[in-house]
Amino acid sequence: MIEERKLQHIKICAWEDVASSHNYWDDVIIRHRAIPNANLDDIDTRVKFLGKTLDYPIIIDAMTGGHRIAKKINRNLAIAAEHFNIGMAVGSQRAAIENPELANTYSVISEYEIPLRIGNLGAPQFALGYGMEEIKKAIEMIDAHAIEIHFNFLQEAIQPEGDTKITGLEKNLAGIAKKYVLIAKETGAGISIDDAKKFKKMGFKALDVSGVSGTSFAAVEKYRGGGLNGELFRNWGIPAPLCVMELRELGLPIIGSGGIRHGLDVARAIALGADVAGIARELLKPAMESSNQVIKKLEEIIQALKIAVFMSGCGSVRELKKVNYIITGKLRDWIWKQ
Ligand SMILES: Cc1cc2nc3c(=O)[nH]c(=O)nc-3n(C[C@H](O)[C@H](O)[C@H](O)COP(=O)(O)O)c2cc1C
Repeated sequence: MIEERKLQHIKICAWEDVASSHNYWDDVIIRHRAIPNANLDDIDTRVKFLGKTLDYPIIIDAMTGGHRIAKKINRNLAIAAEHFNIGMAVGSQRAAIENPELANTYSVISEYEIPLRIGNLGAPQFALGYGMEEIKKAIEMIDAHAIEIHFNFLQEAIQPEGDTKITGLEKNLAGIAKKYVLIAKETGAGISIDDAKKFKKMGFKALDVSGVSGTSFAAVEKYRGGGLNGELFRNWGIPAPLCVMELRELGLPIIGSGGIRHGLDVARAIALGADVAGIARELLKPAMESSNQVIKKLEEIIQALKIAVFMSGCGSVRELKKVNYIITGKLRDWIWKQ
């Protein structure tokens, strides 16, 4: 059942129109500098995230596991993550927790030298009996350095078979977050400042904003029987760049994600306050083909990131955090309404 659903998600995300109507990263403009401050080839792209050094500020974000083509996809992504020395998350590990025969579709990534391996479980399960035991299994399965807990309640509410109980959820997760390195993650509708404050208090160590701009899981569910509500809630949520701008004041490490398409978006996310950018659907089709396709796509992303750093007068990705930017278009409307 879960196995089948996860395969459907892959097919729908690869072939159907599941994007939010507007990509808010386009509304972020970094100020141009005519005289760069460092040679393009000398741009330092390294960052530290959750105690690990990554050669580029990029995390391949959670997508898959638990079905017949998942092992190939995760292997292709893992080869690229090793090649660039960047972070990688697997998709929800619930399928393998419930059927251990599927574990190798996730654990394949531990065959590669990836500096930050991130596991993934859904928050709704922690209101339905999951606890420390499942976290331990998820960590062991991929030798994880951290676990993302995804808050995908919009998707669950639209799914005909969704899990929408929340009783006991926060208390349960607060206990676990004190013991393990947990990252609070959305899946395309964003994290508000109020929720981020709660996550911090509960003991989460980082936030993966996954805001509105890219993949909409309401739209995904439209193609799986979510019908009218899937379309109605396609754009529900908080723009990804706005999440980053609001959450940066908390001082927790931030993965800027949701709609990151290229290296310019990566630069924008960091300029607004993210520590790294998370990329999911942009890498899906290349990963369905080969590791070389993923590497090629990431090379393009990294080259554009370096040009953005160069042309904003910075010598390193870290310096991007101090750069001047302006907010235009629809994103500016959101700022005015704060
Ligand atoms: C095919 C696919 C499957 C996904 N599965 C998961 C998942 O299992 N767990 C999770 O936390 N997020 C999952 N996501 C959400 C992404 O990690 C990310 O938060 C979201 O897609 C927004 O990023 P994007 O616009 O770059 O795709 C999935 C995304 C895609 C495209």
